[in-house]
Amino acid sequence: MRVLVLGAGGMLGRDLVDAAERSAHEVTALGHAELDVTDAAAVEAAVQASRPQWVANCAAYTRVDDAEHEAEEALRVNGEAAGVVARAAWAAGATALYPSTDYVFDGEKKSDYVESDPVAPLSSYGRSKLAGERAGEGHLVVRSSWLFGVGGRNFVETMLGLAARRDELRVVEDQVGSPTFTPHLAEGLVGLMEADARGVRHLTAGGSCSWRDFAREIFARTGAPVRVAGCTTEDFGAPAPRPRRSVLASEHPDTPKLPHWTEGLDAYLAARVPA
Ligand SMILES: NC(=O)c1ccc[n+]([C@@H]2O[C@H](COP(=O)([O-])OP(=O)(O)OC[C@H]3O[C@@H](n4cnc5c(N)ncnc54)[C@H](OP(=O)(O)O)[C@@H]3O)[C@@H](O)[C@H]2O)c1
Repeated sequence: MRVLVLGAGGMLGRDLVDAAERSAHEVTALGHAELDVTDAAAVEAAVQASRPQWVANCAAYTRVDDAEHEAEEALRVNGEAAGVVARAAWAAGATALYPSTDYVFDGEKKSDYVESDPVAPLSSYGRSKLAGERAGEGHLVVRSSWLFGVGGRNFVETMLGLAARRDELRVVEDQVGSPTFTPHLAEGLVGLMEADARGVRHLTAGGSCSWRDFAREIFARTGAPVRVAGCTTEDFGAPAPRPRRSVLASEHPDTPKLPHWTEGLDAYLAARVPA
């Protein structure tokens, strides 16, 4: 299988390149500096040149809080450019893969969200990702959540950085999701491409937790001498609203199963290079 990965320098992009190469696929990797996905002519030329079966669009505007005041830019990258990539892929006989997010849901459902549940994004970022999901006909949309991967901006590094400077932290306890290790997600994405999947799929780590419990597990494993107290979403006061409970499940029996999030955390801590 020939795969073109866009946004290949990002947290997920890098791990997807690795996972596809490990499965002996032929990969062309283009980072932001090599290709801007909002440049339609450049996207078309890149797709034509690499003649892929799949175009994995890992390029994204991912600063959830900044998107509240940069809504147009978020929509341009996550929404409009997703349409550009999906159309360029289709014109070249390829399929686009669009990674999406649990933030397309409002988090009010009491049980896990499946693919056919109604979407209702709360934030500008969530709306831009939903626009991207809807921008490509015949593409594969894979929603995941709470990503962490080596070398990326992520919650684990944020917590370890704070623990080095403080002995007590307050961490949000009323948001629940599934922290997903990007190499595990990347392997699942390769599996879905190999299976020629289409439509919307939910693909996250097994299990779920609050951000507070995630933080406690990080410190339990690293031995950082820091106390973790819970706080509410309101107390924390992040600019972008986030879903309270956005645990995802798949209603498609052939969707790959990823390891539990604590296994992802162990693998992350074993692989990370301390700052
Ligand atoms: N992180 C999460 O918790 C999470 C959760 C669910 C879903 N997702 C989705 O998973 C995907 C990957 O996220 P990630 O966490 O790997 O994000 P990331 O580390 O921020 O990577 C995104 C990459 O896209 C690049 N990019 C931004 N604008 C671009 C443009 N116009 N043209 C080309 N490249 C551009 C960025 O380059 P620069 O750094 O140079 O801007 C960066 O390398 C995204 O679709 C995201 O929405 C993420």
